[in-house]
Amino acid sequence: MSLDVVILAAGQGTRMRSTLPKVLHRLAGKPMVRHVIDTARGLEAERTHVVVGHGAEHVREALADCRVRFALQAEQKGTGHAVAQTLDALGNGKVLVLYGDVPLTRRETLRGLLEAVDEQHLGLLTVTLDEPDGYGRILRNEAGEAVAIVEHKDASEAERAVCECNTGIMAMTAAQLRRWLPRLSADNAQGEYYLTDIIAMAAAEGVKIATAQPARPLEVEGVNNRAQMARLERAHQADIAEALMAQGVALLDPSRLDVRGTLTCGHDVEIDVGCVFEGEVELGEGVRIGPHCVIRDSHIGAETAVEPHSVIEGAVAAGHNRIGPFARLRPGSRLAVGARIGNFVETKNAEVGEGSKINHLSYVGDARLGRDVNVGAGTITCNYDGANKHHTEIGDGAFIGSNTALVAPVSVGKGATVGAGSTLSRDVADNALAVSRARLITKDDWLRPVKHKDY
Ligand code: UD1
Ligand code: CA
Repeated sequence: MSLDVVILAAGQGTRMRSTLPKVLHRLAGKPMVRHVIDTARGLEAERTHVVVGHGAEHVREALADCRVRFALQAEQKGTGHAVAQTLDALGNGKVLVLYGDVPLTRRETLRGLLEAVDEQHLGLLTVTLDEPDGYGRILRNEAGEAVAIVEHKDASEAERAVCECNTGIMAMTAAQLRRWLPRLSADNAQGEYYLTDIIAMAAAEGVKIATAQPARPLEVEGVNNRAQMARLERAHQADIAEALMAQGVALLDPSRLDVRGTLTCGHDVEIDVGCVFEGEVELGEGVRIGPHCVIRDSHIGAETAVEPHSVIEGAVAAGHNRIGPFARLRPGSRLAVGARIGNFVETKNAEVGEGSKINHLSYVGDARLGRDVNVGAGTITCNYDGANKHHTEIGDGAFIGSNTALVAPVSVGKGATVGAGSTLSRDVADNALAVSRARLITKDDWLRPVKHKDY
């Protein structure tokens, strides 16, 4: 049977106190609703429908690259009304209802729920809570079969004593939804069309309610405010840290790690505290990351040491490199084996050859350095003329003296030497010495001016 996933995301989320629609708030660097869309994709859903309402335009825009259909729920008249907005677009197989503000449900949990579904069975995910206030309660008959859900606001004292709660997540066939949704009424405490009322309709028809529970309550936790958001973030990060350690990564403090994307590690990687990994990051065998580094969309090759406070984005380090402390590698930085980038050095769109060193206070952009080049402190590639970017080429074994300005386009030949303080605006031949430096003047026994005294 085909699968349609319906994701409800029309609610306002007032308690976030934000102009951003709730489902766009980020968990692990990704809007919550995208986590849910990814879950649907993992279930190989034929179609994914996102029901939008509050901030609909904003949500559509933020999900423009997702293969989902949007259904507009102009007025929020309840969860049943929300699902009804997708009825015309549903296929003829199974339907799974998820929520844009419940980001951490595992696929295995949902697969289990879906397996139970056919014309005689509906799947309902429930959770038993110590403090069930506010949740819909699961009512069971003497035989222990679930037969209805009563919302907290409509529940009697006795019903409120039930601790088994509705997570909101349920699965059924499209045919069942087409039969039941048009029959919902808003005759209840909130004047809403409750999706939960279909449980009693199912039971009345003799359709069995197959209930399942998630492995952990975290899987069905929704976000209503910033505190819950932060709690889910920490719990999710703890899971990521746990998984990394199980793979053999040494985390000096698993509670001080943030992965916002995918972090892939070889054996014996060590990560110190306070590091943030974003996008796709790969760390080779034996890589050490010092404290407080931010690494995004980069590959750091084996046995590389990244020293504290380095910021690396869109870079590739081949291996055995030493980076930082306080280095900034911007997109297009490519370090060959053994290259070193030291403190307060910025590189961008720069190839640094094997064993070459840029150790202190430099900017190297739009450049290619051969192997065993030594770049002295304070060297700058002047790559930008105010309109266009230009390239700098430095040959194998060249030595660039400190405080050199390389005015691009310019090239320095193999084995060439550039004297400290030079401004290079012409190419330097292989093995040549280039110095551009104002001649030093000295005057012996020179008297410094003295300050005039006011009488
Ligand atoms: C709902 C369930 C309740 C369950 C609880 C779990 C109903 C009637 N009740 O209650 O049994 O225990 O979730 O959290 O289903 N939404 C729309 N359009 C609407 C209304 C809601 O898209 O018209 C979306 C909201 O954005 C939200 C979700 O549906 O993501 C749940 O809505 P909410 O109003 O929070 O339902 P609860 O009262 O929490
Ligand atoms: Ca809710």
